[in-house]
Amino acid sequence: MNLNGKYVVVTGASSGIGKALVANLLKEGAFVLGISRTIEKTMDITHARLWVKNLDLSKKTAIDELFEYAENCFGTIDVFVANAGYANYGPHASIDYQAMKDLLKVNTSGVMYSAKKMQEVYGEKPFNFVVTLSAIAELPMPGYALYGASKAALDNYFSAIRLEEKKTNHTYQRVYPVATRTDFFDRADAKYLPWPVQSPEHVAKKITTGILKNKKKIYPSFLYKWGKRLAPWFFKIYLMNQRKKFEQHANKQ
Ligand SMILES: NC(=O)c1ccc[n+]([C@@H]2O[C@H](COP(=O)([O-])OP(=O)(O)OC[C@H]3O[C@@H](n4cnc5c(N)ncnc54)[C@H](OP(=O)(O)O)[C@@H]3O)[C@@H](O)[C@H]2O)c1
Repeated sequence: MNLNGKYVVVTGASSGIGKALVANLLKEGAFVLGISRTIEKTMDITHARLWVKNLDLSKKTAIDELFEYAENCFGTIDVFVANAGYANYGPHASIDYQAMKDLLKVNTSGVMYSAKKMQEVYGEKPFNFVVTLSAIAELPMPGYALYGASKAALDNYFSAIRLEEKKTNHTYQRVYPVATRTDFFDRADAKYLPWPVQSPEHVAKKITTGILKNKKKIYPSFLYKWGKRLAPWFFKIYLMNQRKKFEQHANKQ
């Protein structure tokens, strides 16, 4: 898809991958609406084609409001990037029921509902729906059971939707970043960063190219994409190592 003059919504646009993506989309000539809870205060990119709006996407009413606002600003949405998300790092038993519900609302059901709204509001009109998953959706990691499940659920959901909508003009694109140097790990209260680590600018560049090429799956890490296929044994050793790290940090507490 050529992004010049297209209307794009990016959620989780106030920092990290989302913010880097906003900068790229503007360079491509797109009109961008950036959403997060704090973006009106924190966004330091100013541009004639950029709109921002504070919304808490854990709420259904906020997602409805997003669509109304986009309709008022743009009249349509050509690309919806469901990027907002977060993790709670820690042993699964340390995460209480409310925290589970809260995370799943933002990372999972809010994204599913946004995809449903795109279908309801725009019907047969062509659009791209991009969702930031994670390598963890395919490679479960100790300390990220809930987070990984929230992304794996979406992976399955969008695989099914692609089959349902094969004959439509709707393009569903899934992104699988590995660890990325953003506020994500601090917010998750993570004790260490899983290797390898990428920059949000690199991930955003790969997402932009993926949208331009209508790629169904976007793997920002070459190493992860090919390692997973060609050297699955490596990931077994890698996960054993991650488990040791997880146990070491758990013992320190
Ligand atoms: N960093 C990584 O290693 C990594 C790896 C794989 C996948 N990912 C995924 O990439 C996406 C972006 O993460 P990031 O690394 O860029 O982290 P980040 O810098 O922490 O960005 C997260 C974004 O989500 C927004 N957000 C969080 N809760 C929200 C809510 N309830 N309503 C609206 N917006 C909300 C945050 O803004 P406000 O606080 O202003 O609301 C922020 O803009 C996430 O889906 C994450 O799961 C990250």
